[in-house]
Amino acid sequence: MENPRSDLKDMSGTVCVVTGANSGIGKATAAELARLGARVVMVCRDEGRGREAQAEIRAAARTAHPSREDVVDLCIADLSVLEEVYRLGETLRADHDRLDVLVNNAGVFLDSFEETADGLEATFAINHLAPFLLTHLVLPRLRETAGRAGEARIITVSSEAHRGVSMNFDDLNARESYNPLQAYARSKLANILFTHELSRRLQDKGVVANAVHPGIVNTNIWRGSGWISRVARLFSWLYKRPEEGARSVVYLAASPEVEGVTGQYFKETEVVNPSPEAYDEKAEAHLWKVSRELTGLAEVNEEEEAE
Ligand SMILES: NC(=O)c1ccc[n+]([C@@H]2O[C@H](COP(=O)([O-])OP(=O)(O)OC[C@H]3O[C@@H](n4cnc5c(N)ncnc54)[C@H](OP(=O)(O)O)[C@@H]3O)[C@@H](O)[C@H]2O)c1
Repeated sequence: MENPRSDLKDMSGTVCVVTGANSGIGKATAAELARLGARVVMVCRDEGRGREAQAEIRAAARTAHPSREDVVDLCIADLSVLEEVYRLGETLRADHDRLDVLVNNAGVFLDSFEETADGLEATFAINHLAPFLLTHLVLPRLRETAGRAGEARIITVSSEAHRGVSMNFDDLNARESYNPLQAYARSKLANILFTHELSRRLQDKGVVANAVHPGIVNTNIWRGSGWISRVARLFSWLYKRPEEGARSVVYLAASPEVEGVTGQYFKETEVVNPSPEAYDEKAEAHLWKVSRELTGLAEVNEEEEAE
């Protein structure tokens, strides 16, 4: 696995969805997947920032494939709003008869408590509930694609920050107290618990699910005005460039080396053990149940949904 770039698949004919694709790791991932030939669907919350990034990625894709039609789409959705995630899921299912890769990348680090329009703590809502819901909404398409193409892949961008915390199911919305580092860490632990449970449920269905820590990357995630963000920015010259951070995500999306690999946590391009808390099967099952309730999925019969 020395040079993950050397052996990536030609992604022509595939459709890859990348959330948070206007900035940082998501933008670099979208650009690289388009360069590899995929049709890329960028999911962004702000139309202006989305269009600007789309134009850049389109131009790069055109340079790589001058004779091909445009392959960079843009969907606008604020993933903190459940209704917008539902709408996004519908759009993706309606517009694409195949979905090969879903990259759950959009994420935030919030210096202070914020509540979403649905009354949820925003870090938990954006970093965990949105990928949980979006994955469920597009799963039928991923499964169909896997049936035809052999495999579909779900990649959730987690973080080494997940270490040292456990889920606090008594106060998932941090109503009692909000600690920015803990809120972020728990949301990234939730990404791994979700990946474990999801991969178990998808066993033998052709859809693989993995989580990844991309390294410490110089992006806009540290743009807040609180002291943690300010300290993080002080050291940003030491961090990786977004293109370097995206390497592991693109590797999981496009490398034949990881065909059939599922339920794993990657630190860059290596499989490593996440924290012991990430293997807590009770927490995995409970998080799944609570997330279904909080996202409104509990009203859908799980077997019906899996059809
Ligand atoms: N940077 C690191 O060192 C590092 C390390 C480990 C893991 N990660 C993870 O990597 C992922 C990408 O982060 P990044 O570092 O590349 O940060 P970033 O540059 O801030 O990118 C985050 C992306 O998510 C989008 N986003 C945030 N809230 C959203 C919402 N409500 N609806 C839709 N999109 C939303 C942002 O859109 P706007 O531009 O409109 O805000 C942006 O496109 C995150 O999941 C993060 O936890 C980062």
